[in-house]
Amino acid sequence: MENKKFYITTPIYYPSDKLHIGHSYCTVAADAIARYKRLQGYDVMFLTGTDEHGQKIERIAKSQGVTPKQYVDKVVSGIKDLWKEMDISYDKFIRTTDDYHVKAVQKIFRALYDNGDIYKSHYEGWYCTPCETFFTEHQLVDGKCPDCGRPVEKVKEEAYFFRLSKYQDALIDYIESHPGFISPQSRQTEMIANFLKPGLEDLCVSRTSFTWGIPVEFDPGHIVYVWVDALSNYITALGYGSDDDSLYQKYWPADLHLVGKEIVRFHSIIWPAILMSLGLPLPKKIFGHGWLIIDGGKMSKSKGNVVDPKVLVDRYGLDAIRYFLLREVAFGQDGNFTNEALIQRINSDLANDLGNLVSRTVGMIQKYFGGTLPYEQTGTDFDLDLIRTAGDVVKKYETAMDQLQLSDALTELWVLIRRTNKYIDETQPWVLCKDPDRQPELAAALYNVAESIRIISILLQPFMTQTPKKIWAQLNIKDERLTAWEAVTQWGLLARDLTVSKGETLFPRIDMQKELVELETALKAAQAQAVANQPKQEDAASDEEFITIDDFDKVKLVTGEVIASEQVKGSKKLLKNTVKIGDETRIILSGIAKYYTPEEMVGKKVVVVANLVPRKMMGEVSHGMILCAADAEGHLSLMTDDKQFPSGCEVR
Ligand code: MSP
Repeated sequence: MENKKFYITTPIYYPSDKLHIGHSYCTVAADAIARYKRLQGYDVMFLTGTDEHGQKIERIAKSQGVTPKQYVDKVVSGIKDLWKEMDISYDKFIRTTDDYHVKAVQKIFRALYDNGDIYKSHYEGWYCTPCETFFTEHQLVDGKCPDCGRPVEKVKEEAYFFRLSKYQDALIDYIESHPGFISPQSRQTEMIANFLKPGLEDLCVSRTSFTWGIPVEFDPGHIVYVWVDALSNYITALGYGSDDDSLYQKYWPADLHLVGKEIVRFHSIIWPAILMSLGLPLPKKIFGHGWLIIDGGKMSKSKGNVVDPKVLVDRYGLDAIRYFLLREVAFGQDGNFTNEALIQRINSDLANDLGNLVSRTVGMIQKYFGGTLPYEQTGTDFDLDLIRTAGDVVKKYETAMDQLQLSDALTELWVLIRRTNKYIDETQPWVLCKDPDRQPELAAALYNVAESIRIISILLQPFMTQTPKKIWAQLNIKDERLTAWEAVTQWGLLARDLTVSKGETLFPRIDMQKELVELETALKAAQAQAVANQPKQEDAASDEEFITIDDFDKVKLVTGEVIASEQVKGSKKLLKNTVKIGDETRIILSGIAKYYTPEEMVGKKVVVVANLVPRKMMGEVSHGMILCAADAEGHLSLMTDDKQFPSGCEVR
């Protein structure tokens, strides 16, 4: 057992009271892998937790009138409740506000500094608050965050830098000589082509513009950059940098960091470089899974499309949801979440295939043998084929699990479930029961089905936390040796006088049409409730897709009248308009020459953004912006004043 250890981590979550089914996806997947490894006899350490520092949290707390610590304490307990509800079998939950973590991060920062990998300089660049990430000008996409597409802020401040560039070649060598270190392969290709080969820049690793974070112990005006703080959790949780690092000695290096695709870069470039600098071994694997998307986009509360896992669990039971999450999407790729697909899976895979198999088997043993099955074996071709299928499925399931292809493992398991249902149809117990001479065949057929269900129940364990127990209760399996991993490849372990008892329906069938309406209503109600439960500010700060009324007030909108207009020289798009706003006139350029002639513009009452920073275009300076509606093809239509008020009116 000594070398059979398995250390698996999820990302540590940003504390928010709006964890949605997408967040649960990562944790449920990690949980299934952890349970599988435990089943196989590994000594598993499964770590999860919360990433509690940073400017974003500081802002949210302020907007709610509480301290950052008060805010995180409240939401972290909600996150723990959710993991309880999802039956997440983590061994340790780390909070980056935990004292031992804070101290260890300070030591790590000092060690990087002492060995010359951290130096002081000035940082000037762009910062994405939601992603807690700095970007250089050329990394921005259309002037926005390349990771999340949201607006970035310009910052300049004194800061410490980590010599990431120094590790570029070592990282490329390491990644190329360790196939599977970054998985799936496509993510490795992306990291090398998009980040490592173009060249790494040194990384800004401290901030002075906010205080909610871990102070650099030898320069307390500086706060340790949140990603250095966050990534270190994987070793500080094991006691690295504390008086007792026995867990670190036992479990590090991690066997698997499971992360969403957008944070593979932090885990496969920055984290290994930090570890190299500290002289520590690198994790064995970083697996970047895809996103659960909805209507073609990532879930976000401000878009009003988040799916609350609690609503689903309450309606369909935990196992159905865990199953759906891991079965529906090939692990590693993005997958669309739809209510129809969920109900469809519950009805076909769970109610029809699995639930029905168990209930008809128990029902037949009760009906034909009064609940206690006499032991018989026949050795027909059907029997042999069923037994062979069980053996094949176990092998393929194991291969898929070892490659983290969770959905493939479930597909394999369903091959056995369907084969077992087919075996019932082939052996036709309802025909055998009519002939007293064929009672041994009948008993043998039902024993084989029950035995197959026992094997199925073992393979279900990583994915479902309740159903296996319900099956064991119905088949009267009390001896744990019958449900251990070793028992999965042995045929004929069930009791010779198998006594069964009927239980509740494992997965009730759902009326799709009716349920779709009800589910939609329930999800909407949960969303509305969640929005009502928290100040709007939190959304604004965390998603940047809502603005507050104060934000809106910053934009000065007024009516104006175009009194002259001409084409800008050298531009097919731009018109130079002279706009009267009350007593003032100003020049405003507008990219609408394709849709309005200068003659058509004159006399139009328009809406103007009056407080925009003046901007030079094609040699002319524009003092504001004229508002237009744009259709799907980008055609423009002027916003005008319906009642033709005098120019200079406020628009609100
Ligand atoms: N705090 C950082 C991680 C630091 S790890 C040292 C963070 N937190 S997060 O709360 O934003 O995201 C946590 C995980 O949830 C990420 O792996 C992310 O990919 C995952 N998901 C968030 N939304 C998701 C979906 N819609 N679908 C699948 N996973 C999603 O990033």
